[in-house]
Amino acid sequence: MRFIGNKERLVNWIFSEIKANNVEGSLFFDYFAGTANVGKFFKQNNFQIVSSDLLYFSYVLQKAYIENNTIPQFEKLLSTIDITSRKLVADNFDLVLEYLNDLQGIEGFIYKNYTPNETSNRKYFIPENGKKIDAVRTQIEQWKNNNLISENEYFVLLACLIESVPFFANILGVFAAYKKDWDRRALKPFELKRINLIQSNTEHFVYNVDSREILNKFNYDIIYLDPPYNQRQYAPNYHLLETIAKYDNPEIKGVSGMRNYDNQKSVFCNRDKALNELEHIVLSGKYKYLLLSYNNEGLMPQNEIIKILEKKGKVILKEYDYLRFKSNSNGKSSNKKYIKEQLYILKKNNG
Ligand SMILES: C[S@@+](CC[C@H](N)C(=O)[O-])C[C@H]1O[C@@H](n2cnc3c(N)ncnc32)[C@H](O)[C@@H]1O
Repeated sequence: MRFIGNKERLVNWIFSEIKANNVEGSLFFDYFAGTANVGKFFKQNNFQIVSSDLLYFSYVLQKAYIENNTIPQFEKLLSTIDITSRKLVADNFDLVLEYLNDLQGIEGFIYKNYTPNETSNRKYFIPENGKKIDAVRTQIEQWKNNNLISENEYFVLLACLIESVPFFANILGVFAAYKKDWDRRALKPFELKRINLIQSNTEHFVYNVDSREILNKFNYDIIYLDPPYNQRQYAPNYHLLETIAKYDNPEIKGVSGMRNYDNQKSVFCNRDKALNELEHIVLSGKYKYLLLSYNNEGLMPQNEIIKILEKKGKVILKEYDYLRFKSNSNGKSSNKKYIKEQLYILKKNNG
């Protein structure tokens, strides 16, 4: 998924650096989960994961990719409803996705508020796709309310929806605004895509809270911090994914139809508060190793970060030139920019 600060393309580098620096352990806290890509990578590499994010749609992804350890079979659902496939499908999961993809659209919250029609002029989706998203979201909720799907199955289907929606949205990377003219991607008929799940025999724990609340819950081997780098809050940039995930008919405002996000503001979007919060995490001592991903353009200055980290042990700083995700780059090379991605590694002193 396109997500500001997504570490999908950096996890291999992060992993090689921590191995090269003898960072070891098994309990890994992904403190700022976002897409859950970091947790996914470490789960695949046999770590036990704890993760959290302020955003509910991130929690949906964490439930599906991190906490869930199986490929859902949808046995109860398939025994009670009539699903006959018209295509060659690989398994039950595909069968259920095909059923959802074949639903008739309905005029629900997304259609009414985020497509151009008699009640709205917002152009996030073409009307047909808005109706399709409503139909899929409503059906998943009904199956859950009728006890036809398990909690895991519910979150896996929701995660498929969340991962699929951006491919049909008429936006430039983030949902804070829609494009004036239709992007080609938005004109394709909406289709739910299957996600790749990770099987494991270990119990993993995921949350939808300010991670400060679970800092003291476990003794972590590794805490991985990937905070917001600048003043831009995440919630307004991804408000529509939040609304599709929650599907709670929120009061919405303004040109972009934004939901209220007062409870989802991160202190890391403010320089002084971020430094205080970093110090709080460092001084908690609930880790053997603390990793911090940041970059040379972030709000917290490098010397201040190092001063705080050194209160608990030895600090190593690794850097990597990285092509920045720009929401309005449109693929034009003139708008692309290299930044220095940084990885601070703190080995906590004994005692
Ligand atoms: C840079 S992104 C993380 C990206 C993530 N590593 C990935 O690969 O997708 C920062 C994330 O931290 C979340 N966040 C900010 N402050 C938080 C807090 N105090 N507790 C939990 N999550 C927080 C934001 O909602 C956002 O999803």
